[in-house]
Amino acid sequence: MLHLNIVNVETPEEMGKAAADVFEAVIHAKPACVMGLATGSTPLPLYRELIAREKAGLIDFSRVRSANLDEYKGLGPDHPQSYRRFMQENLFDHISIKPENTIVPDGLATDIPAMCEAYERKIEDWGGVDIQLLGIGHDGHIGFNEPCDYFPVMTHEVQLTAMTREANKRFFSSIDEVPTSAITMGIGTVMAAKRIVMIITGADKAEILHKVFFGPVTPEVPGSILQFHPDVTLICDAAAAAGLHK
Ligand code: PGA
Repeated sequence: MLHLNIVNVETPEEMGKAAADVFEAVIHAKPACVMGLATGSTPLPLYRELIAREKAGLIDFSRVRSANLDEYKGLGPDHPQSYRRFMQENLFDHISIKPENTIVPDGLATDIPAMCEAYERKIEDWGGVDIQLLGIGHDGHIGFNEPCDYFPVMTHEVQLTAMTREANKRFFSSIDEVPTSAITMGIGTVMAAKRIVMIITGADKAEILHKVFFGPVTPEVPGSILQFHPDVTLICDAAAAAGLHK
């Protein structure tokens, strides 16, 4: 049964601080906790805040582990648009987290099912995700779990929808360069996280925010499964929050 904490913020900086408060509390309670992390534009203020808090001595990442939600298929760690590189540049290179304690699905894996299984096993060996960060796609995707006729359980390969490729082309020089498939944690992997923080900004996300939390639970809107998660904190700005009051 959904237990939804809603935090309203006005600016991206406030969002970063509100999300960082949750991460800080989890890390203080469990210094070797497992963070499930996300990429995209919305997490950037959070990552800036986490870096600043470690520099200020408020957080210590030296024992923390992290597992990212997803990666483009075919992009290696040095590709400017790979999610591994995004994480290095925007967070990992600036905090004390140990390189061996960060995992991102391998976009260049030749045996993808084996890589996905190993990814799940690693998270399990770490004791599961303590706090999972999520954004939401315009089509309701979480990670790269696109609308579909079932909820994929484990980490797996997916074909990206035209909507997702269109939304992400802003990071590439043309739509043709946006990969057509990706590797993502499954819906089961995400739902197994003990705590979830979802960050949403912008009027363009209001409608999907409404569908996710107040519409029917359906794999056509993958994020709607969160209605069954017991501990979700939704942090949104006023423009996105309009979707709460429809
Ligand atoms: P965004 O990405 O938060 O950068 O919009 C969310 C997503 O597509 O999952």
